[in-house]
Amino acid sequence: MIVGLIGYPVTHSLSAVMHNAAFAHIGWHDWRYELWNTPHDELPARMAALRDRADLAGCNVTIPHKQNVVPYLNEVSAHAQAIGAVNTIVKKNGGLYGDNTDWLGWLTDLRANGYTPNADTHTVVLGAGGSARAIVYALLQCDSHITIVNRNLQRAQHLAESIGATQAITVVAAVNELPLSSIGLVVNCTSAGMSPNDDGTPWPPHIPFPQQATLYDLVYKPRMTRLMQQAKAANAHVVGGIGMLVEQGAAAFAQWTGVPAEAVSGVMSRAIV
Ligand SMILES: NC(=O)c1ccc[n+]([C@@H]2O[C@H](COP(=O)([O-])OP(=O)(O)OC[C@H]3O[C@@H](n4cnc5c(N)ncnc54)[C@H](OP(=O)(O)O)[C@@H]3O)[C@@H](O)[C@H]2O)c1
Repeated sequence: MIVGLIGYPVTHSLSAVMHNAAFAHIGWHDWRYELWNTPHDELPARMAALRDRADLAGCNVTIPHKQNVVPYLNEVSAHAQAIGAVNTIVKKNGGLYGDNTDWLGWLTDLRANGYTPNADTHTVVLGAGGSARAIVYALLQCDSHITIVNRNLQRAQHLAESIGATQAITVVAAVNELPLSSIGLVVNCTSAGMSPNDDGTPWPPHIPFPQQATLYDLVYKPRMTRLMQQAKAANAHVVGGIGMLVEQGAAAFAQWTGVPAEAVSGVMSRAIV
C-alpha cells in the first residue's frame, strides 16, 4: 500500500524517513511513504490520481494545499472544519476523508513535555497563520485563555472570529502589549527564526522573556532557535517543534493503518534526530 505527502515543495520533507521507519518497525514491508511535489496547477490531476489508485491508504497534505484540497474530499472532520485546514486524508470505501492531526499532535507533545493547559492557563500565541489556527483550536479544547500576537492585527482578528471564540481570545499587534507576569505558555507559530533566517525572532530582544512561562516553538529547523535561546537565557522551560512533527505524523499513521500512534512515535522520532 502507498501513502505520501502532497505539497510544494516537499523534496526536503522529513515525513518519508519518519513514516518508512515506522513501517519497517512494524514489519509492514509492502507499505511505503512517498513525496509528491505538487505545484498548484497539478493539484486536480494529483487528487484524481489518488482517488483512482486502488493501493492508496491516504496521504498527508502540507503547504500550500491544506485548504485547497477540501473541494476534492467526500467528507471533512469537525476538527479540520473548525481549523479550516486538512493535513491528513484517509481513503475509506473508495472516498477521501479529510482530517487535521496538527492540533492533536501538538497537544500530545506538549503534554509529553510536562505541560497541560487548562482554564487557569494564559497562553500567548505568536502568529496568526495556518499553524496558529491549529494551536488556537487545541487551546480552546483545554479552555485556556488566549492572546494572539500578530503584526497584521486584522489577520489575528479574523482568526479569532472565524474559529468562533472571540470571547476567549484577545488580539494584540506587538509583544510589548502583553501582561508578562500572567503568562503560563508561549507558543511560537510564526516562521521567524526558521532556517535559513536563523537570526530572526518574534520576541523583541529588549523585552525580557517571562521566566515562569513554558515556550513551545513550532519551528524545528534549526532545533534550537534564537527564540528558544532567549527563553533559555531567562530560565524558562523550552520545547522545540520536532515532537509536534512526530506526533501529528504518528496520529495520521494510526488513521491509515489502525496501529496506535504510541506504538510508532518513538521509532519515528529516532529516525529524524
Ligand atoms: N512543528 C511542526 O510540526 C510544525 C507544523 C506546522 C508549522 N510549523 C512551523 O510553524 C511556522 C509557521 O507556519 P505557518 O504554516 O503557520 O506559516 P504561515 O501561515 O505562513 O504564517 C506565518 C506567521 O508568521 C508571522 N511572521 C512571519 N515572519 C515574522 C516575523 N519576522 N516577525 C513576526 N511574525 C512573523 C506572520 O505574520 P503576518 O501575518 O503579520 O505576516 C504569520 O502570522 C513555520 O516555521 C513552520 O515550519 C511547524
